[in-house]
Amino acid sequence: MIEQLVYKEDDYELVLNQLHALILDETDIICNLANASSLLYHFLKNVNWVGFYLFKENQLVLGPFQGKPACTRIPLNKGVCGKAATIQEVVYVENVHEFEGHIACDSASNSEVVLPIVINGNLFGVLDIDSFKFNNFNSQQIEFLKEFVEVLKSQLKKDLVQY
Ligand code: SME
Repeated sequence: MIEQLVYKEDDYELVLNQLHALILDETDIICNLANASSLLYHFLKNVNWVGFYLFKENQLVLGPFQGKPACTRIPLNKGVCGKAATIQEVVYVENVHEFEGHIACDSASNSEVVLPIVINGNLFGVLDIDSFKFNNFNSQQIEFLKEFVEVLKSQLKKDLVQY
């Protein structure tokens, strides 16, 4: 397992390699999402919540996460998560208090980025990351998060076959 969880701010390549190593030999979706959320939670700066919502029965249902307990079900098009899931694009909100319909699970959150996870054309879920800092994420970090999701997707495709 990963011995050392102290990262430099720009160790993106290292974290992508660690994700790959963590999930490569494991075919259980929940295991892999749980480790992925932990990895990001410990690597990213200023975050208070990192986790997944999974698309089931036409809504987003809380999946593996790190942080305080959160709302369990989010309809499509509600909140930042629902928007990212509906438009299937990354949604970055610099100030969540100015986002109409933002769902405040943790009152400490001030900015949020949500990345859709689409596998073989089907919505699988979203990766949701909250920060207690306003405008916490820059474009380099968002590009890294997109790559993170791509590495995760390559394994989830295999996991789903066995599910
Ligand atoms: N803020 C999200 C809800 C999920 S929590 O942040 C964990 C939203 O508006 O969709």
